[in-house]
Amino acid sequence: MDATIRDAFAYSKVPLSVARKAYSKIRASTEGRPIHAEQVAAKGDSFIRHHLRTLSPYQPILPFEVLSRNLGRKPEDIVKLDANENPYGPPPEVFEALSTLKFPYIYPDPETRLLRAALAQDSGLEIEHILVGCGADELIDLIMRCVLDPGDKILDCPPTFAMYGFDAAVNAASVVNVPRRSDFTLDIPQIIQVVKQEKPKCIFLTSPNNPDGSVINDVDVLEILKLPILVVLDEAYIEFSHIPSKMDWVKKHENLIVLRTFSKRAGLAGLRVGYGAFPLSIIQYLWRAKQPYNVSVAAEVCACAALQNPGYLENVKNLLLQERERLFNLLNQVPFLKPFSSHSNFILCEVTSEKDAKKLKEDLMQMGIMIRHYDNKELKGFVRVSVGKPVHTDALMRCLRKLY
Ligand SMILES: Cc1ncc(COP(=O)(O)O)c(C=O)c1O
Repeated sequence: MDATIRDAFAYSKVPLSVARKAYSKIRASTEGRPIHAEQVAAKGDSFIRHHLRTLSPYQPILPFEVLSRNLGRKPEDIVKLDANENPYGPPPEVFEALSTLKFPYIYPDPETRLLRAALAQDSGLEIEHILVGCGADELIDLIMRCVLDPGDKILDCPPTFAMYGFDAAVNAASVVNVPRRSDFTLDIPQIIQVVKQEKPKCIFLTSPNNPDGSVINDVDVLEILKLPILVVLDEAYIEFSHIPSKMDWVKKHENLIVLRTFSKRAGLAGLRVGYGAFPLSIIQYLWRAKQPYNVSVAAEVCACAALQNPGYLENVKNLLLQERERLFNLLNQVPFLKPFSSHSNFILCEVTSEKDAKKLKEDLMQMGIMIRHYDNKELKGFVRVSVGKPVHTDALMRCLRKLY
């Protein structure tokens, strides 16, 4: 085989036997004329990293406009209770700030100094410990990119937020699962055992946990912090619980990272702003590895504006907590639902035997109500309903009543 051609195949990591076959096909099709390397059209997917070729695609929720078209309903006639968004949206200061953006044509501050200063004030943690990302999602991936070598393991405690497993797969890591118990508490003895045996590099803990809304108690967090593992504590929904954030714990624990977001608390899911608290020994590497302009000018300005109105944020939180209680009581009266009490802005429900959870989701969707349905190993036959405004609960209940 011609050396240049062989190199081209070697570069694309095609096994030699496959390359030989392809080469003879090419020779036949060129009828003996000489072939140059640039003429060998390797298949596009041969350029993709091996571990990504078997990755299942992430299943995102449908955008509002697409959903509206599919259902033949105006977006405002759809009750969206499937992604734990904050239906009250951000405070008025955010809209004002967006409409008066001065420098959208200039790259944003790579160090998000204004927002980090505002977050330092909001959290009481020094600015040096804080890093902002394009959603907490970006930070989960950034942490993995900094921490994991291909083949490393992460420890996950399902059922939980699917992005940990997804990002681990993207980063060529494998996932060791220690499932939560039936009441969704962590199985601490099993976690300790698995850390010893499998030596995962980091563990993702979610408190309140998505999708059930349970919180992890301090004793359990401290127990896990004693292990030789990096603990990423995801507090995306912490504002809806009674427990204070553990952001300042990163000063005492070199193996702790705490993640938070503006998506839920401040109704900014569409603008993508998340942040994390890190030990100084870790944060310096995230600064080096992150994309310089990861947080847009609009995102930073809006997040700062949201923090200027803590009264609004508190009020919206209280409205959601009140509605959570009302929603729970109403769901509890539905003959085929068993709701789990939640410390977050959503309620997980088991769909009891006589009803099919997937059909329930689909029936509600046809009536313009979106909820989340689960069909995985840990949660077969469960649905999750985000807490909305009282009108959303009323609409949901009207539709549920049509189904019994
Ligand atoms: C537990 C958890 N962490 C992180 C996120 C992502 O947050 P962000 O919107 O800031 O990327 C979500 C979003 O639903 C979540 O449920």
